[in-house]
Amino acid sequence: MENAKLNLGNMVIELPLVTGTMGEQAIDITNLRKDSGFITLDSGYQNTGSCKSAITYIDGEKGILKYRGVNIEELASKARFTEVAYFLVNGKFPDNGERLEFSQQLTENSMLHEDMIKFFHSVPPTAHPMSILSTMVNAMSIFYPQYFVDENDGEVFKLMASRLISKIRTIAAFSYKRSIGEPLVYPRHDLPYVGNFLNMMFDSPVKPYESDPDMERLLNMILILHADHEQNCSTSTVRLVGSSLVNLYSSVCAGICALWGPLHGGANQEVIEMLERIRNENLSIKTVLERAKDKNSNFKLSGFGHRVYRNFDPRMKILKQEAQSFLGNRKLDDPLMNIALELEAAALKDDYFVERKLYPNVDFYSGILYREMGFPTEMFTVLFAIGRMPGWIAQWKEMHDSVPFKIGRPRQIYTGPTEAHYPG
Ligand code: SDX
Repeated sequence: MENAKLNLGNMVIELPLVTGTMGEQAIDITNLRKDSGFITLDSGYQNTGSCKSAITYIDGEKGILKYRGVNIEELASKARFTEVAYFLVNGKFPDNGERLEFSQQLTENSMLHEDMIKFFHSVPPTAHPMSILSTMVNAMSIFYPQYFVDENDGEVFKLMASRLISKIRTIAAFSYKRSIGEPLVYPRHDLPYVGNFLNMMFDSPVKPYESDPDMERLLNMILILHADHEQNCSTSTVRLVGSSLVNLYSSVCAGICALWGPLHGGANQEVIEMLERIRNENLSIKTVLERAKDKNSNFKLSGFGHRVYRNFDPRMKILKQEAQSFLGNRKLDDPLMNIALELEAAALKDDYFVERKLYPNVDFYSGILYREMGFPTEMFTVLFAIGRMPGWIAQWKEMHDSVPFKIGRPRQIYTGPTEAHYPG
């Protein structure tokens, strides 16, 4: 079938079809309004594609996730996060020379401008680290005012990307240290990406951080799992804001704000708080599921459900396995893990969840791991943002390079008063 035919009264509108490399199909409505005067309406963009993209592929029915054609399982078990970051942003894995250059750029750009650090000493220690992160990332447009403008600024774009991927760790760690009243630990030039972050987080004058290869492997893998996820809410935000031609730092700042929401990346914090409430209030699994199904209660089973996955989220399967082996190897019996496993088992046998194809998503078990690794609950979404940073950058650049380049500006159907006047 070449075109779709749309019968609109006495009009028959022919609309071209678009087929992706994995066989997904779309109806191209670029000329719909011009040819028919009609627009489409699709709340939450459940059926609407905003772009063509070569970065990430998700098959929600089969639970498949690929970054530029490579299965997530392969990357999670074999790659380093910095390699995956380079791969997502540049479209290829780095050769030895590129790997060295990228590593040097990340090291050279791991510090924050000393005047930015003054900000940390003026925020209350109770400030949520996601609000600090979005503020400091946007502040990068003040302290590093060299912006990518067009394809000739490739070196500037690379520098901006390295600054974001590197400094997000420093901002995250500094916000944590401020929240516990400990001195800031600066990045070091002799530690790898994740080890440097863990050292900034957990090193202290009275208890030096000892490199833990198992923790570093685990966090490398978790960051890879979060690195991109096609046109999710925060990535679509980065693209939409970036389509006005504002700089990359400010576009990513908007994405961080979108990610913070409890329906999106903020769910990993919500899940732990939900599990703690179940434990502290000694709620039965039955009661919790009843509440989640009750339309009159605004309680949702956090970490469950997904706009795209109508099968298991492949990232969740890996995280669940890692959580079970991390706890098993350390002979830890985590009551929250036990509650999570019981909740999952009960929900997967409950018609309400089965009929709606609600499965645990990436956020359901990630918090269990973060908690066992020593991260405070409020840092969980910041960890999600560290992982997602290369994806946001890659998607922003792909949007920038798209032809034709269009500012994002959806239409609407007006439902307000037809005629009104100023009183008086
Ligand atoms: C992420 O998009 C991405 O790719 C995101 C992400 C990424 O990597 O970027 O994967 C990361 O954000 C994962 C999702 C994290 N959020 C949560 O865990 C919050 C809890 N989940 C829900 O709020 C919900 O499932 C969403 C927001 C994730 C998806 O919402 P949709 O697609 O709009 O689905 P919906 O709200 O229309 O739900 C369909 C039905 C409704 O019931 P009915 O109206 O059909 O009776 O399922 C119900 C919903 O009430 N439902 C839930 C539920 N999720 C959906 N009921 C109880 N508990 C839930 N968690």
